[in-house]
Amino acid sequence: MMENYHDYLAKILIPEDVLQARIAELGAEISRDYEGEELLLICILRGGVVFLVDLMRRITIPHALDFMAISSYGAGARQSSGNVRLTLDLQTNIRDRNVLLVEDIIDSGNTIASVLEMLETRQPKSLRVCTLLDKAERREVTVPIHYRGFDIADKFVFGYGLDLDEYYRNLPFIGVVDLDKYTPPD
Ligand code: IMP
Ligand code: MG
Repeated sequence: MMENYHDYLAKILIPEDVLQARIAELGAEISRDYEGEELLLICILRGGVVFLVDLMRRITIPHALDFMAISSYGAGARQSSGNVRLTLDLQTNIRDRNVLLVEDIIDSGNTIASVLEMLETRQPKSLRVCTLLDKAERREVTVPIHYRGFDIADKFVFGYGLDLDEYYRNLPFIGVVDLDKYTPPD
């Protein structure tokens, strides 16, 4: 497992400087849109965490932070299903708050659709989605995305928060996996 990832890195899809420049733009846009409002950022663990810490430092208006975790069952490591379970709930009551969900990637859309449905019932003042990556070709359910970093093709990617069987979230870039050369750990 821990052999060098260079063996199965097909290519660097989004280099570090391009990621950081786009995140600065997103931070500026969010800061303008929520000017004079209170804001709560909610990070969906674990993939969104690297994006969150860079994004929040580009947001210039006061904001609070919370985390939630969900697990998707009835699916494999490289796909999700519509069946998601809350494994860590928020510490914050979101009623009448402006909530911005921060995600690493929206693929089928099943995960974020379930989270949105769950959070809507708690009656936030507003509820929006910010995702670093959007694999729109793979969408199975329609989800509203208010802030999008990059549109990407249907390739499995890793790095910058996204894992390859739980490893490599620390890489500063987004890379494409060569699935012919990669053997998952057992
Ligand atoms: P969805 O429910 O199909 O939209 O899947 C969303 C979740 O699947 C993301 O939050 C990721 O955890 C994971 N995921 C989807 N595509 C990739 C990928 O290319 N690399 C790593 N994780 C991915
Ligand atoms: Mg995720």
